[in-house]
Amino acid sequence: MSKKSQMDIFQSLRKDVFGALEEAADFDAILKIEAESLGKSGRLTNILKSLKDMPSAERLVIGSTANALKKEIEEKMKEKKEEIGKKIKTEADKAEWVDVSIPGKKIKRGHLHPISRILDETSAIFESMGFEMVEGPEAETEYYNFDALAIPKNHPARDMWDTFWLKEPKDQISLNDRSKLLLRTHTSPNQIRYMEKHQPPLRIIVPGRCFRYEATDATHDFQFYQLEGLMIGEKTNLAELKGAIELFFKLLFKDKNLQIRFRPGYFPFVEPGVEVDIKLSQSLEWLEIAGAGMVHPSVIKAVKLNPNQWQGFAFGMGLDRIAMLKYKINDIRLFYSGDLRFINQF
Ligand code: FA5
Repeated sequence: MSKKSQMDIFQSLRKDVFGALEEAADFDAILKIEAESLGKSGRLTNILKSLKDMPSAERLVIGSTANALKKEIEEKMKEKKEEIGKKIKTEADKAEWVDVSIPGKKIKRGHLHPISRILDETSAIFESMGFEMVEGPEAETEYYNFDALAIPKNHPARDMWDTFWLKEPKDQISLNDRSKLLLRTHTSPNQIRYMEKHQPPLRIIVPGRCFRYEATDATHDFQFYQLEGLMIGEKTNLAELKGAIELFFKLLFKDKNLQIRFRPGYFPFVEPGVEVDIKLSQSLEWLEIAGAGMVHPSVIKAVKLNPNQWQGFAFGMGLDRIAMLKYKINDIRLFYSGDLRFINQF
Protein backbone atom coordinates (compact mmCIF):
# COMPACT_ATOMS: atom_id res chain seq x y z
CA MET A 1 0.00 0.00 0.00
CA SER A 2 1.31 3.44 -0.83
CA LYS A 3 2.29 5.77 1.94
CA LYS A 4 -0.35 8.19 0.70
CA SER A 5 -3.27 5.77 1.06
CA GLN A 6 -1.91 4.51 4.41
CA MET A 7 -2.02 8.12 5.66
CA ASP A 8 -5.62 8.36 4.40
CA ILE A 9 -6.51 5.32 6.50
CA PHE A 10 -5.00 6.98 9.56
CA GLN A 11 -6.96 10.14 8.80
CA SER A 12 -10.28 8.37 8.50
CA LEU A 13 -9.55 6.20 11.57
CA ARG A 14 -8.76 9.30 13.58
CA LYS A 15 -11.87 11.05 12.31
CA ASP A 16 -14.11 8.07 13.16
CA VAL A 17 -12.67 7.51 16.62
CA PHE A 18 -12.67 11.17 17.65
CA GLY A 19 -16.16 11.69 16.20
CA ALA A 20 -17.52 8.67 18.08
CA LEU A 21 -15.80 9.75 21.30
CA GLU A 22 -17.38 13.19 20.97
CA GLU A 23 -20.82 11.57 20.81
CA ALA A 24 -20.21 8.98 23.56
CA ALA A 25 -22.56 9.54 26.47
CA ASP A 26 -21.50 6.76 28.85
CA PHE A 27 -18.75 4.33 29.75
CA ASP A 28 -20.22 1.53 27.65
CA ALA A 29 -19.95 3.64 24.48
CA ILE A 30 -16.27 4.43 25.22
CA LEU A 31 -15.46 0.78 25.87
CA LYS A 32 -17.03 -0.11 22.53
CA ILE A 33 -14.90 2.48 20.68
CA GLU A 34 -11.81 1.28 22.53
CA ALA A 35 -12.47 -2.33 21.47
CA GLU A 36 -13.06 -1.33 17.86
CA SER A 37 -9.84 0.69 17.57
CA LEU A 38 -7.34 -0.58 20.12
CA GLY A 39 -8.81 -4.00 21.00
CA LYS A 40 -7.34 -7.36 20.00
CA SER A 41 -8.57 -7.03 16.43
CA GLY A 42 -9.17 -3.29 16.50
CA ARG A 43 -8.46 -1.21 13.38
CA LEU A 44 -5.27 0.40 14.74
CA THR A 45 -4.07 -2.85 16.33
CA ASN A 46 -4.35 -4.53 12.93
CA ILE A 47 -2.15 -1.84 11.36
CA LEU A 48 0.42 -2.26 14.12
CA LYS A 49 0.35 -6.03 13.62
CA SER A 50 1.04 -5.63 9.91
CA LEU A 51 4.21 -3.53 10.51
CA LYS A 52 6.42 -6.59 10.63
CA ASP A 53 5.69 -7.37 6.98
CA MET A 54 6.59 -3.87 5.74
CA PRO A 55 9.90 -2.71 4.29
CA SER A 56 11.91 -1.09 7.04
CA ALA A 57 11.72 2.50 5.70
CA GLU A 58 7.97 2.33 5.43
CA ARG A 59 7.73 0.53 8.80
CA LEU A 60 9.53 3.45 10.44
CA VAL A 61 7.14 6.11 9.14
CA ILE A 62 3.90 4.12 9.43
CA GLY A 63 4.95 2.70 12.82
CA SER A 64 5.68 6.04 14.39
CA THR A 65 2.48 7.56 12.94
CA ALA A 66 0.43 4.60 14.22
CA ASN A 67 1.99 4.81 17.70
CA ALA A 68 1.44 8.56 17.85
CA LEU A 69 -2.22 8.08 16.88
CA LYS A 70 -2.58 5.30 19.47
CA LYS A 71 -1.24 7.63 22.16
CA GLU A 72 -3.53 10.42 21.00
CA ILE A 73 -6.61 8.13 21.08
CA GLU A 74 -5.69 6.82 24.53
CA GLU A 75 -5.37 10.33 25.93
CA LYS A 76 -8.64 11.43 24.39
CA MET A 77 -10.35 8.36 25.85
CA LYS A 78 -8.93 9.06 29.30
CA GLU A 79 -10.18 12.65 29.06
CA LYS A 80 -13.63 11.51 27.95
CA LYS A 81 -13.85 8.91 30.75
CA GLU A 82 -13.04 11.58 33.34
CA GLU A 83 -15.62 13.89 31.83
CA ILE A 84 -18.36 11.23 31.99
CA GLY A 85 -17.32 10.21 35.52
CA LYS A 86 -17.69 13.81 36.69
CA LYS A 87 -21.08 14.12 35.00
CA ILE A 88 -22.40 10.94 36.69
CA LYS A 89 -21.15 12.10 40.08
CA THR A 90 -22.76 15.53 39.71
CA GLU A 91 -26.09 13.94 38.80
CA ALA A 92 -25.91 11.56 41.78
CA ASP A 93 -24.99 14.44 44.10
CA LYS A 94 -27.92 16.43 42.81
CA ALA A 95 -30.33 13.55 43.41
CA GLU A 96 -29.06 12.99 46.95
CA TRP A 97 -28.87 16.60 47.94
CA VAL A 98 -30.97 17.52 50.92
CA ASP A 99 -32.01 21.05 51.64
CA VAL A 100 -31.66 21.18 55.41
CA SER A 101 -33.30 24.58 55.54
CA ILE A 102 -36.73 23.30 54.35
CA PRO A 103 -39.12 22.97 57.33
CA GLY A 104 -39.78 19.27 58.21
CA LYS A 105 -43.03 17.48 57.40
CA LYS A 106 -44.97 16.54 60.51
CA ILE A 107 -45.32 12.76 60.76
CA LYS A 108 -48.79 11.77 61.92
CA ARG A 109 -48.67 9.74 65.12
CA GLY A 110 -50.92 6.74 65.49
CA HIS A 111 -53.30 6.45 68.44
CA LEU A 112 -54.14 3.49 70.56
CA HIS A 113 -57.83 2.68 70.53
CA PRO A 114 -59.34 3.46 73.97
CA ILE A 115 -60.31 -0.21 74.40
CA SER A 116 -56.69 -1.23 73.72
CA ARG A 117 -55.51 1.29 76.30
CA ILE A 118 -57.93 -0.01 78.90
CA LEU A 119 -56.90 -3.56 78.08
CA ASP A 120 -53.19 -2.70 78.51
CA GLU A 121 -53.80 -0.97 81.85
CA THR A 122 -56.17 -3.67 83.07
CA SER A 123 -53.86 -6.55 82.29
CA ALA A 124 -50.89 -4.72 83.85
CA ILE A 125 -52.82 -4.30 87.12
CA PHE A 126 -54.02 -7.90 87.24
CA GLU A 127 -50.58 -9.19 86.31
CA SER A 128 -49.16 -7.22 89.25
CA MET A 129 -51.68 -9.12 91.40
CA GLY A 130 -50.35 -12.46 90.15
CA PHE A 131 -52.89 -13.19 87.40
CA GLU A 132 -51.65 -14.63 84.12
CA MET A 133 -53.23 -13.43 80.87
CA VAL A 134 -54.47 -16.10 78.45
CA GLU A 135 -56.68 -16.03 75.35
CA GLY A 136 -59.39 -18.17 73.82
CA PRO A 137 -61.26 -18.47 70.50
CA GLU A 138 -63.97 -16.05 69.32
CA ALA A 139 -65.72 -18.83 67.40
CA GLU A 140 -66.66 -21.10 70.26
CA THR A 141 -68.53 -24.38 70.62
CA GLU A 142 -71.94 -24.72 72.23
CA TYR A 143 -70.37 -27.02 74.79
CA TYR A 144 -67.87 -24.49 76.15
CA ASN A 145 -70.09 -21.43 75.82
CA PHE A 146 -73.11 -23.04 77.49
CA ASP A 147 -73.23 -26.70 78.50
CA ALA A 148 -70.02 -26.91 80.51
CA LEU A 149 -71.10 -23.73 82.29
CA ALA A 150 -74.30 -25.41 83.55
CA ILE A 151 -76.49 -23.76 80.90
CA PRO A 152 -78.10 -26.75 79.18
CA LYS A 153 -80.30 -26.54 76.06
CA ASN A 154 -83.84 -25.33 76.71
CA HIS A 155 -82.73 -23.85 80.04
CA PRO A 156 -84.34 -20.40 80.39
CA ALA A 157 -80.95 -18.95 81.35
CA ARG A 158 -79.82 -19.29 77.72
CA ASP A 159 -82.06 -16.35 76.92
CA MET A 160 -79.61 -14.16 78.85
CA TRP A 161 -77.22 -14.61 75.97
CA ASP A 162 -78.78 -13.94 72.56
CA THR A 163 -76.55 -15.92 70.31
CA PHE A 164 -75.10 -15.61 66.81
CA TRP A 165 -74.94 -19.20 65.56
CA LEU A 166 -72.41 -20.05 62.86
CA LYS A 167 -73.34 -22.10 59.81
CA GLU A 168 -72.30 -25.71 60.06
CA PRO A 169 -69.42 -26.56 57.74
CA LYS A 170 -70.85 -28.56 54.76
CA ASP A 171 -68.27 -31.33 54.96
CA GLN A 172 -69.21 -32.17 58.54
CA ILE A 173 -71.93 -34.83 58.53
CA SER A 174 -73.32 -34.62 62.01
CA LEU A 175 -72.43 -32.10 64.64
CA ASN A 176 -73.04 -32.79 68.25
CA ASP A 177 -73.34 -30.12 70.94
CA ARG A 178 -69.63 -30.25 71.66
CA SER A 179 -68.77 -28.98 68.20
CA LYS A 180 -71.73 -26.81 67.14
CA LEU A 181 -70.24 -23.38 66.53
CA LEU A 182 -71.33 -19.93 67.68
CA LEU A 183 -69.70 -16.55 68.31
CA ARG A 184 -68.89 -16.56 72.00
CA THR A 185 -71.40 -14.55 74.00
CA HIS A 186 -69.03 -14.12 76.93
CA THR A 187 -65.46 -14.93 77.95
CA SER A 188 -66.56 -17.49 80.57
CA PRO A 189 -65.93 -20.55 78.29
CA ASN A 190 -62.25 -19.93 78.94
CA GLN A 191 -62.71 -20.90 82.58
CA ILE A 192 -63.43 -24.42 81.33
CA ARG A 193 -60.81 -24.39 78.58
CA TYR A 194 -58.08 -23.37 81.02
CA MET A 195 -59.05 -25.66 83.88
CA GLU A 196 -59.19 -28.65 81.52
CA LYS A 197 -55.48 -28.20 80.83
CA HIS A 198 -54.08 -26.70 84.05
CA GLN A 199 -54.11 -27.85 87.62
CA PRO A 200 -55.04 -25.44 90.42
CA PRO A 201 -54.08 -23.35 92.27
CA LEU A 202 -54.46 -20.87 89.41
CA ARG A 203 -55.14 -17.23 88.65
CA ILE A 204 -55.94 -16.07 85.13
CA ILE A 205 -57.50 -13.22 83.22
CA VAL A 206 -58.92 -13.68 79.74
CA PRO A 207 -59.72 -10.58 77.70
CA GLY A 208 -61.67 -10.96 74.49
CA ARG A 209 -64.33 -9.82 72.09
CA CYS A 210 -67.85 -11.12 72.65
CA PHE A 211 -70.94 -11.02 70.45
CA ARG A 212 -74.64 -10.90 71.21
CA TYR A 213 -77.56 -10.84 68.84
CA GLU A 214 -79.23 -7.86 70.43
CA ALA A 215 -80.46 -4.37 69.56
CA THR A 216 -77.89 -1.66 70.18
CA ASP A 217 -78.21 1.43 72.33
CA ALA A 218 -75.81 3.79 74.10
CA THR A 219 -74.62 1.09 76.53
CA HIS A 220 -75.19 -2.09 74.49
CA ASP A 221 -73.51 -3.16 71.29
CA PHE A 222 -73.65 -6.46 69.44
CA GLN A 223 -69.88 -6.72 69.86
CA PHE A 224 -68.02 -5.69 72.98
CA TYR A 225 -65.06 -6.69 75.12
CA GLN A 226 -65.11 -8.62 78.34
CA LEU A 227 -62.36 -9.50 80.76
CA GLU A 228 -62.82 -12.82 82.49
CA GLY A 229 -61.07 -13.48 85.78
CA LEU A 230 -60.66 -16.83 87.50
CA MET A 231 -58.92 -17.76 90.72
CA ILE A 232 -59.01 -21.30 92.11
CA GLY A 233 -57.40 -22.44 95.32
CA GLU A 234 -58.17 -24.55 98.37
CA LYS A 235 -59.49 -21.67 100.42
CA THR A 236 -60.25 -18.92 97.87
CA ASN A 237 -63.38 -17.10 99.04
CA LEU A 238 -65.86 -14.33 98.32
CA ALA A 239 -63.99 -11.80 100.48
CA GLU A 240 -60.93 -12.28 98.25
CA LEU A 241 -63.10 -11.69 95.19
CA LYS A 242 -64.30 -8.42 96.66
CA GLY A 243 -60.77 -7.44 97.69
CA ALA A 244 -59.32 -8.17 94.24
CA ILE A 245 -62.06 -6.29 92.38
CA GLU A 246 -61.94 -3.31 94.73
CA LEU A 247 -58.15 -3.02 94.52
CA PHE A 248 -58.30 -3.34 90.75
CA PHE A 249 -60.82 -0.51 90.27
CA LYS A 250 -59.06 1.78 92.77
CA LEU A 251 -55.80 1.35 90.86
CA LEU A 252 -57.41 1.71 87.42
CA PHE A 253 -59.33 4.87 88.25
CA LYS A 254 -56.57 6.18 90.59
CA ASP A 255 -59.36 6.83 93.07
CA LYS A 256 -58.78 5.52 96.57
CA ASN A 257 -62.27 6.56 97.68
CA LEU A 258 -63.98 4.60 94.91
CA GLN A 259 -66.73 2.36 96.31
CA ILE A 260 -67.76 -1.11 95.25
CA ARG A 261 -71.08 -2.87 95.89
CA PHE A 262 -72.15 -6.50 95.43
CA ARG A 263 -75.81 -7.18 94.64
CA PRO A 264 -77.24 -10.67 94.33
CA GLY A 265 -77.13 -11.78 90.72
CA TYR A 266 -77.90 -15.01 88.88
CA PHE A 267 -75.45 -16.81 86.65
CA PRO A 268 -75.85 -20.60 86.41
CA PHE A 269 -72.10 -21.19 86.70
CA VAL A 270 -71.57 -19.42 90.04
CA GLU A 271 -73.05 -19.81 93.50
CA PRO A 272 -73.53 -17.33 95.04
CA GLY A 273 -73.64 -14.96 92.05
CA VAL A 274 -73.30 -11.19 92.25
CA GLU A 275 -73.63 -8.12 90.10
CA VAL A 276 -70.79 -5.69 90.77
CA ASP A 277 -71.46 -1.95 90.90
CA ILE A 278 -68.88 0.81 91.35
CA LYS A 279 -69.18 4.45 92.34
CA LEU A 280 -66.38 6.92 91.64
CA SER A 281 -65.69 9.35 94.49
CA GLN A 282 -66.85 12.38 92.48
CA SER A 283 -69.96 10.62 91.17
CA LEU A 284 -73.43 10.20 92.67
CA GLU A 285 -74.40 7.18 90.62
CA TRP A 286 -73.69 3.47 91.02
CA LEU A 287 -72.77 1.77 87.77
CA GLU A 288 -73.14 -1.92 86.95
CA ILE A 289 -69.79 -3.06 85.63
CA ALA A 290 -69.43 -6.82 86.03
CA GLY A 291 -70.94 -10.18 86.88
CA ALA A 292 -69.14 -12.43 89.35
CA GLY A 293 -69.41 -15.14 91.97
CA MET A 294 -67.98 -18.29 93.47
CA VAL A 295 -67.40 -20.96 90.80
CA HIS A 296 -70.27 -23.48 90.93
CA PRO A 297 -69.29 -26.99 92.13
CA SER A 298 -70.81 -28.42 88.92
CA VAL A 299 -68.27 -26.43 86.88
CA ILE A 300 -65.43 -27.72 89.05
CA LYS A 301 -66.76 -31.25 88.46
CA ALA A 302 -67.08 -30.64 84.68
CA VAL A 303 -63.29 -30.20 84.53
CA LYS A 304 -62.75 -33.32 86.63
CA LEU A 305 -61.60 -31.59 89.79
CA ASN A 306 -62.85 -32.38 93.27
CA PRO A 307 -65.19 -29.59 94.50
CA ASN A 308 -64.49 -30.61 98.09
CA GLN A 309 -60.86 -29.71 97.61
CA TRP A 310 -60.97 -26.82 95.14
CA GLN A 311 -63.04 -23.66 95.16
CA GLY A 312 -62.67 -20.20 93.69
CA PHE A 313 -64.15 -17.10 92.20
CA ALA A 314 -64.80 -15.84 88.70
CA PHE A 315 -65.81 -12.50 87.26
CA GLY A 316 -66.64 -11.04 83.85
CA MET A 317 -66.23 -7.30 83.35
CA GLY A 318 -67.36 -5.21 80.43
CA LEU A 319 -64.23 -3.44 79.17
CA ASP A 320 -66.23 -1.04 76.97
CA ARG A 321 -68.25 0.12 79.95
CA ILE A 322 -65.05 0.66 81.95
CA ALA A 323 -63.52 2.64 79.05
CA MET A 324 -66.70 4.72 78.80
CA LEU A 325 -66.44 5.60 82.45
CA LYS A 326 -62.73 6.32 82.37
CA TYR A 327 -62.77 8.46 79.22
CA LYS A 328 -66.24 9.95 79.71
CA ILE A 329 -67.69 8.50 76.52
CA ASN A 330 -71.47 8.52 76.40
CA ASP A 331 -72.15 6.08 73.56
CA ILE A 332 -70.58 2.63 73.27
CA ARG A 333 -71.16 2.58 69.49
CA LEU A 334 -68.45 5.23 69.02
CA PHE A 335 -65.80 2.58 69.79
CA TYR A 336 -66.64 0.64 66.65
CA SER A 337 -67.54 3.53 64.36
CA GLY A 338 -64.06 3.72 62.81
CA ASP A 339 -64.36 7.52 62.98
CA LEU A 340 -60.84 8.99 63.16
CA ARG A 341 -62.12 12.19 64.78
CA PHE A 342 -63.06 10.02 67.74
CA ILE A 343 -59.91 7.88 67.84
CA ASN A 344 -57.58 10.87 67.44
CA GLN A 345 -58.68 12.23 70.79
CA PHE A 346 -56.90 9.44 72.65
C1 FA5 B 1 -71.70 -12.46 81.74
O1 FA5 B 1 -71.47 -12.41 80.53
C2 FA5 B 1 -71.02 -13.47 82.61
N1 FA5 B 1 -70.24 -14.37 81.79
C3 FA5 B 1 -70.17 -12.75 83.63
C4 FA5 B 1 -69.68 -13.64 84.72
C5 FA5 B 1 -68.44 -14.18 84.65
C6 FA5 B 1 -70.49 -13.93 85.81
C7 FA5 B 1 -67.96 -15.00 85.65
C8 FA5 B 1 -70.05 -14.73 86.81
C9 FA5 B 1 -68.77 -15.28 86.71
P1 FA5 B 1 -73.23 -10.34 81.75
O2 FA5 B 1 -74.10 -10.79 80.65
O3 FA5 B 1 -73.84 -9.59 82.84
O4 FA5 B 1 -72.46 -11.56 82.37
O5 FA5 B 1 -72.04 -9.46 81.11
C10 FA5 B 1 -70.96 -9.02 81.92
C11 FA5 B 1 -70.59 -7.58 81.54
O6 FA5 B 1 -70.37 -7.49 80.15
C12 FA5 B 1 -71.71 -6.59 81.83
O7 FA5 B 1 -71.68 -6.15 83.16
C13 FA5 B 1 -71.37 -5.48 80.85
O8 FA5 B 1 -70.37 -4.64 81.40
C14 FA5 B 1 -70.79 -6.23 79.66
N2 FA5 B 1 -71.82 -6.40 78.63
C15 FA5 B 1 -72.77 -7.35 78.53
N3 FA5 B 1 -73.51 -7.18 77.42
C16 FA5 B 1 -73.02 -6.10 76.79
C17 FA5 B 1 -73.34 -5.41 75.56
N4 FA5 B 1 -74.31 -5.82 74.75
N5 FA5 B 1 -72.61 -4.32 75.23
C18 FA5 B 1 -71.60 -3.92 76.04
N6 FA5 B 1 -71.25 -4.51 77.18
C19 FA5 B 1 -71.94 -5.60 77.56
